[in-house]
This record gives sequence, structure tokens and C-alpha cells, in this order.
Amino acid sequence: MDFGWLEITVASLVLTAVIGAIWTRGRNWLDPVFWKRFAIVGSLVMFIFLWILTFDTLAKTRIGTDRVPSPTVINYKITYKYDADKGYYMPVIHKDEKEPLFGKEYTEEEAMKLLVKGKLVIQSRACMDCHTLLGNGAYYAPDLTKAWLDPKWEKIMIPATQSRTKEEAMVKFLMHPDKYATWTRRIPNLGITESKYQNIKAF
Ligand code: HEC
Repeated sequence: MDFGWLEITVASLVLTAVIGAIWTRGRNWLDPVFWKRFAIVGSLVMFIFLWILTFDTLAKTRIGTDRVPSPTVINYKITYKYDADKGYYMPVIHKDEKEPLFGKEYTEEEAMKLLVKGKLVIQSRACMDCHTLLGNGAYYAPDLTKAWLDPKWEKIMIPATQSRTKEEAMVKFLMHPDKYATWTRRIPNLGITESKYQNIKAF
């Protein structure tokens, strides 16, 4: 069952009030013991609720759930569709259409290794000094969260870099940013090897 924040808040307050009232029965509200006991009950109830919510969140954000698909998602075609209810674009994973990254299909274990390495490369090279990724980072350069789905890769960068695929075009762009610059602000050549860029693309 799914509980909203309002139900959780009301439930924790009601529980605190009921347990507190039972424990302080017969005491005057001006008695310091009355407040001490309510403080203890309130802290304990909130602690238990936060504990439960923490595990609930961890379960929902684990890999392999609806929110965080299995790493093998990189084997499939992914597009964007406008979600009228949410009011923004949502990624759509086409489970019936394979579009393997760099022409290779990855097992779950291989895909996971690729993603973890990509994340480490991105962290160690401080891409966030200029870019934003998943809500964190700077605004000097384009937001990378959805960069993969930018139509410019297909429309401009694949022909410009004479690549066959989007991932190949992205790697070429990043390895020779001066040659394919699309903006007045330039991304420096970070001197990262091609295989590491493949990790970055997977991530
Ligand atoms: C010194 C700032 C800086 C750093 C550090 C940097 N970038 Fe960039 N990046 C830029 C700028 C500026 C652009 C836009 C350049 C252009 O379009 O010609 C860009 C463009 C890109 C693009 C194309 C995005 C799009 O949608 O057009 C990708 C992908 C990218 N960077 C990845 C990375 C990765 C991965 C790293 C870390 C390994 C990184 N960048 C580090 C400044 C930076």
C-alpha cells in the first residue's frame, strides 16, 4: 500500500498524542514530567517513522525497480515522450527494440561494470565543475542528464563526425572538442581515453 506524506505526518502525530496521553494520564499539563514524557514519546515515534521511511525509500530507489531500471537498459532503444499529467518529458524504454550501445549487447554484470566505471570517471574528472548531472553541478556547460536524448546528435553530430551511431559521435566530439565545437563556450580536451568515454556513455 502507498502512503502519502500527509497520512504519514497525521499518523505520527496521532500516535504521539495517544501514547503521550496514556503515559501522562492524571498529570497536570503544567507538570514538567508531562512535557518530558511527551518529548520522549514524540522523539521515539518520529525515529521509528523515519527508520521505516528510510528503508521504504531504499527499496524504491534500488536498481531493477520501476524508477531505476536494470543496467541492461543500455541494450534498448530509449526515447522521450511528453507526459501531460506530469507536465514534462519522461524517458520511454522500448523493451521490444534493441539498440545496443557501441553495437554490443551487455549482460547485466557487464552493463553494471560499465556504468560503475563511467560514474567513477565522471566523478574523478570533475565534469560537474562545468556541467549539471542529475540535478547536481554547475551551469557553465549544457545539462548532461538528458544530453543523450538531444536530437542534435542525430541531426548534426553524426554527419559532422562521420559516425554511424550517436555514441560514436559523442565519443568523437569529446575526444576532439575543438574540431566539432557547437558553441562559443568550449569543452576542453580532457585527455580521456576512448574506452573511458565508452564507460561515460553507458552511465
Ligand atoms: C571546463 C568546463 C568543462 C568540463 C570540466 C567538462 N565539460 Fe563537457 N562541455 C563543456 C562545454 C562548454 C560544452 C559545450 C561545448 C560545445 O557545444 O561545443 C560541453 C559539452 C559537453 C557534451 C555535449 C553536451 C550537449 O548536449 O551538447 C558532453 C556529452 C560533455 N560535455 C561531457 C563532459 C564530460 C563527460 C566531462 C567530464 C569527463 C566534461 N564534459 C567536462 C565544458 C566542460
